Amino acid sequence: MSPTTHNRVGVLHGANLDQLGRRDPHHYGSFTLSELEVAVRRFARELDLEVIFFQTNHEGEFIEYLHRLPEMADAAVINAGAWTHYSWAIRDALEFAQLPAVEVHISDVESREEWRRHSVFDGLVLAKISGKKLDGYREALELIAKELGVGE
Ligand code: DQA
Repeated sequence: MSPTTHNRVGVLHGANLDQLGRRDPHHYGSFTLSELEVAVRRFARELDLEVIFFQTNHEGEFIEYLHRLPEMADAAVINAGAWTHYSWAIRDALEFAQLPAVEVHISDVESREEWRRHSVFDGLVLAKISGKKLDGYREALELIAKELGVGE
C-alpha cells in the first residue's frame, strides 16, 4: 500500500453502544463492543483498510470527534445509536466533515418501533445498512473500499 493511499476509516459508535453484550440479544446479538471492534479490524485488514475506533455516550464529544475526523480518516462508518433518529447537530457535523460515510445499525431498525425508521443521515450517506449484526460492518467497509478505490 503506497503512503498516499487513502484507506483510513473512522468507525464511530454513539450512545449505549458501549453496552453491547448486555443489551437485548434478539436485536443486538451477544457480542461486546470490544469483540465487534476485533471483528471489524479483521474485515478491514482483508480489504486493505485501516480502522480507528471511537465510542462515546456524550453527543457533544461525538460532534467534536466528527470535527477532527477529516485529519485522521478518509471515510467513516457511523452507528450513532438513538442519535440517528433525532440529532440534527450530528448530521450537521457529518456534513461538515465532508467524508464518504456509511450508516450502520446492528438491529433491523426498519422493523422495530416507528421512530427508529427515520434517520437524520438520509441523503448524506452512501448507504444505510441495518439488521445484519456484524456483517453490516463488513458490508459498510466493502462499500467504502470501493468508494475510496482501495484494492483496485
Ligand atoms: C442502533 C439502533 C438504534 O435505534 C438504537 O437506538 C441503538 C442502536 C443499532 O445499532 O441497531 O442504540 O443504532
